[in-house]
Amino acid sequence: MIRRYFVGFASVATVAILAALTLAGTAVADERQESDVTPNAARAPEGDVAAGREVFRRQCAVCHAAEADVHKAGPSLAGVFGRRAGSTSFPRYRGLDGADFIWTASSLEAYLADPRAFIISHTEKPTTSMTFRVPDERQRRDVIAFLQTLK
Ligand code: HEC
Repeated sequence: MIRRYFVGFASVATVAILAALTLAGTAVADERQESDVTPNAARAPEGDVAAGREVFRRQCAVCHAAEADVHKAGPSLAGVFGRRAGSTSFPRYRGLDGADFIWTASSLEAYLADPRAFIISHTEKPTTSMTFRVPDERQRRDVIAFLQTLK
């Protein structure tokens, strides 16, 4: 008799514990979801200039100088922000030759993500001589923030 009560109690206790664990699990999952969202929401839409300088140094400087009128395989990027595309004294523009749009955060963002696709949709040219892409969104934002500082 006592034993049967005990078994009964034990199974009720087990169910209670399982229920508690399930609830706790749900609460943990909810918390995790919230903290997954918070850093993104809190992240500033502007890029980080210092990180962008590093992206530039590693990925762009081989072809681009930050000084005015200094051209390498690609045109100088001094003052590129707000300037008409393809308008430096660089002699070897291809896709950007005769372009009639201004470099803004959004045009730079689209260009750096996929230069070829961008040139095809924004100019009459079939291609661009810059085939280099920046697939990482964070790096694009950072390097664009850095480009804005190049006067
Ligand atoms: C392998 C060489 C190369 C690399 C690496 C490269 N570019 Fe370029 N870039 C070019 C060339 C060449 C052009 C001219 C494209 C054309 O006319 O079609 C160009 C054009 C540009 C332009 C337009 C300039 C203007 O005068 O309108 C921007 C902005 C630009 N690049 C940004 C970048 C950034 C930012 C990086 C690094 C993340 C980068 N590029 C990496 C070769 C390169």
